Amino acid sequence: MSDTLTLPEVETAAAPEGTKRLFIKTYGCQMNVYDSERMADVLRPLGYATTDSPEGADFVILNTCHIREKAGEKIYSELGKIRQMRERKLERGEGGMTIAVAGCVAQAEGEEIMLRAPAVDIVVGPQAYHQLPELLTRTARSRGERIGADFAPNEKFDAMPVARGVKGFTAFLTVQEGCDKFCSFCVVPYTRGAEWSRPVADVLAEARGLADQGVREVTLLGQNVNAYDGEGPDGTVWTLARLARALAEIPGLDRIRYTTSHANDMSDDLIAAHAELDALMPYLHLPVQAGSDRILRLMNRKHGRQKYIDLIGRIREARPDLALAGDMIVGFPGETDREFEDTMDLVRQVDYAACFSFMYSPRPGTPAATMPGQIPAEVMKERLKALQDLLFEQQVAFNQAQVGKTLNVLFERKGRHELRAQGIGRSPYLQSVHVDGADHLLGQIVPVRIEQGNQNSLKGSLIGA
Ligand code: SAH
Ligand code: SF4
Ligand code: F3S
Repeated sequence: MSDTLTLPEVETAAAPEGTKRLFIKTYGCQMNVYDSERMADVLRPLGYATTDSPEGADFVILNTCHIREKAGEKIYSELGKIRQMRERKLERGEGGMTIAVAGCVAQAEGEEIMLRAPAVDIVVGPQAYHQLPELLTRTARSRGERIGADFAPNEKFDAMPVARGVKGFTAFLTVQEGCDKFCSFCVVPYTRGAEWSRPVADVLAEARGLADQGVREVTLLGQNVNAYDGEGPDGTVWTLARLARALAEIPGLDRIRYTTSHANDMSDDLIAAHAELDALMPYLHLPVQAGSDRILRLMNRKHGRQKYIDLIGRIREARPDLALAGDMIVGFPGETDREFEDTMDLVRQVDYAACFSFMYSPRPGTPAATMPGQIPAEVMKERLKALQDLLFEQQVAFNQAQVGKTLNVLFERKGRHELRAQGIGRSPYLQSVHVDGADHLLGQIVPVRIEQGNQNSLKGSLIGA
């Protein structure tokens, strides 16, 4: 009882934490998810606590993605809705609402956002969000001033608090940013800048902090994460494999993943780590984008079809239970029916556990956008449908192939079926696994016998249950 009497006094005196409401909407890749969490970390000392709805929020951030046209256009309709919420809030006499656009659209189209959406107070690129507190004060002093900023990633990481406000047992951890590959269709090298790896000591410190908060599984992030070449504590350059080995030593951190990788950076050292390290999950996202050598060349992927297939062979030899994920683009400029069939054929050869597929979207400023032979939308739609049917079959077959196996499951949350005490977790292959009588196992990694493989999830039971 005495606690309840003394605690509130201390809290009010210490910090106005949670007094202002922050809503962050995240678009795009996992790196944006990580960045959004870090924005919340940077703003927490100013009294901002995150909420699930923009209605009534004091600060709204749209963390945007520029990868395909649709992704970019969504922002403007969203901004229209948020502006109306701001007006309603003002009418209710509940004060103002600061609106920020962050992320890759902010970086690529900062000027355009300012012109098209005058309600926006702050425009901040992916390498500058550590400056949000300062940008906020500047906006408060002169409302209407819009700020775009552009910095090197090391400044961002150095300026951010090490501590993270994580919830749950899995976390993303950015170890590498940017891309020097310049695939001819892709905006990432322009929105995220040059490849840069965080120093090993920083990564390890952040990972230890996560493990201290109960995180059991960490996914290392980078646009080309397997090109990681961070500076080690001894001054030498560390590879991703070496980093993974060091991370695996951290007590409590039992699962390590990394995404996304490029075939050309898949070193022997990393393949060997998959064979050696139990903590390294047997699941690899290794996109190829197309199955035709001519299209791969036009895409500037810097490797051919056979090299990718051979590489997959070597990885599977080292780790036979490894499952593969990928990304594919259909309808790249000039792609013929025959070349599309090469993609279908490659997918059949590789056999993916999961694969994302997209219609090519011309992006301003990229070489492919002005290449001859842009493919009509109807053709792209047909190709996408055929590819997705095949990928769907492969995904279902992979899920069904788990039936009868025992998989280690990291339980993350309670399921909907309370009466059955259902717990939901992740398999090593990122499948969602539903298990009755497991809702007391959150945060634990437990063997589960798989009994059913569905489209998007598995069902199983605890051994001995
Ligand atoms: N670095 C990763 C990919 C990052 S972008 C890699 O090289 O594999 C994520 C995915 O979006 C890409 O793999 C690609 O499949 C897709 N993508 C990127 N640009 C695109 C575009 N202009 N049109 C359609 N899909 C695109
Ligand atoms: Fe884009 Fe290619 Fe870089 Fe991936 S490797 S981020 S697809 S330019
Ligand atoms: Fe999108 Fe930027 Fe990620 S463009 S995919 S949010 S790196």
